Amino acid sequence: MRWNFIVQRDQSMAVLGIDFGTSNSAAAVARDGAAHMIALESGEMTLPTAVFFDFDRKKMLIGGAAGAALLAGDEGRYMRALKSLLGAPLMREKRNLLGEKLDFIDIVSRFLGQVKAAAEAQTGETFTRALSGRPVRFHPDDARNAQAEVDLREAYMRAGFEDVAFMYEPEAAALANREVLAQGDLGLIVDIGGGTSDFTLFRNGADGIDILGSYGVRLGGTDFDRIVSLETVMPLLGRDSEIRHAFGNETHTAPTTIFNDLATWQKIQFLYAPDSRRLAKDLLQYAVEPAKLERLISVLDDELGHDIAFAVEAGKIGANTTGAGEIDLRVIERGLAVVLQAQTVEELLLPSTAEMAQAALVTVAQAGALPEDVTHLVFVGGSSLMQVTRTALGAVFPSAQVHHGSALTAIVDGLGLAAEGAFA
Ligand SMILES: Nc1ncnc2c1ncn2[C@@H]1O[C@H](COP(=O)(O)OP(=O)(O)OP(=O)(O)O)[C@@H](O)[C@H]1O
Ligand SMILES: [Mg+2]
Repeated sequence: MRWNFIVQRDQSMAVLGIDFGTSNSAAAVARDGAAHMIALESGEMTLPTAVFFDFDRKKMLIGGAAGAALLAGDEGRYMRALKSLLGAPLMREKRNLLGEKLDFIDIVSRFLGQVKAAAEAQTGETFTRALSGRPVRFHPDDARNAQAEVDLREAYMRAGFEDVAFMYEPEAAALANREVLAQGDLGLIVDIGGGTSDFTLFRNGADGIDILGSYGVRLGGTDFDRIVSLETVMPLLGRDSEIRHAFGNETHTAPTTIFNDLATWQKIQFLYAPDSRRLAKDLLQYAVEPAKLERLISVLDDELGHDIAFAVEAGKIGANTTGAGEIDLRVIERGLAVVLQAQTVEELLLPSTAEMAQAALVTVAQAGALPEDVTHLVFVGGSSLMQVTRTALGAVFPSAQVHHGSALTAIVDGLGLAAEGAFA
């Protein structure tokens, strides 16, 4: 398969390239053979993929504004990592938000609609077509993987686009980074994002790139956050804590689902329903360590799940950057914090990064190549900044030269470049 970037530009058919990421989104158009990024929010080129239904102001905020409202403790409903819900039956369940009955496709569509509006305001053009990135696999299950694209397409349509084409995210990154390769070189894009890890084996050509194969797994930085949270923060809230039986002296370990959900970005919002609070109160009644379960109850009552997720993410990045990070949990309790050593993070994430490295090897094998044929590894995606992913991936391609593409914008650069040609 071949992706070209030099095409005749037709003004009547402006195409917007959109990287709808699990954690961050971005948009770009092609201008004179180069990608031109759209500033989506106060001059920022990337926008957190987040929404906040503000109950006081009666409106939906997106991006950084949504995060700011959450951190300010404003009354409302925050949602992040919506991409991870694509393909699940609950995408089409309606819920009451700000007096409207909306399903999650509507919510994604309103997010995309605001991206479209920002692009149109900036360029003066009307975008009826989108070239959207997508992970090679949204989900390991084939049916859910297919449904995820159906859902995302529908969100684009509801946002006012008339047509949408999809491009594998790592193929877009390959197009953006093609100049890393000289003739004869064989490059492997390693895109470790928030929700998925995606790989493309490619060669550079005169006016485009040749794709030899692409593959991906549903594993990314939000999974890193979940694992770190489960092992370091959730025990403070009663995970693995003993609960007495109502009769007799026997105990059992607290059920794990509630802690799993609280540690998972896209599931946090569902925990604020009455049944989770009821479960937490039942656990407290028979808890061997009631102080921990009391914390869990206050987290659910005060809706602090996303605050914890942000604290965990900051701790993870801090540990990776400086060798020791801190998960600051003062929102739960004065002085509560977890010190996170880089080595702890590395040990916790080792099984995940081994799975990512395995997926990279599958990509190469499926294309009929050998690991030693790969001359260049090109890292993109926010989680490629984690030392532990670089080490794991570097180890399976020891002879490849390592190149770091722009972590958060490589995919949208490629989508911008390919946008016009996608409908040619
Ligand atoms: N400096 C950093 N060090 C380590 N991890 C980081 C850093 N900056 C961001 N991340 C992580 O990168 C992830 C987001 O990366 P990115 O924006 O590439 O994902 P995405 O494109 O939104 O997701 P996907 O492509 O999987 O849908 C988050 O999990 C975030 O915690
Ligand atoms: Mg991405």
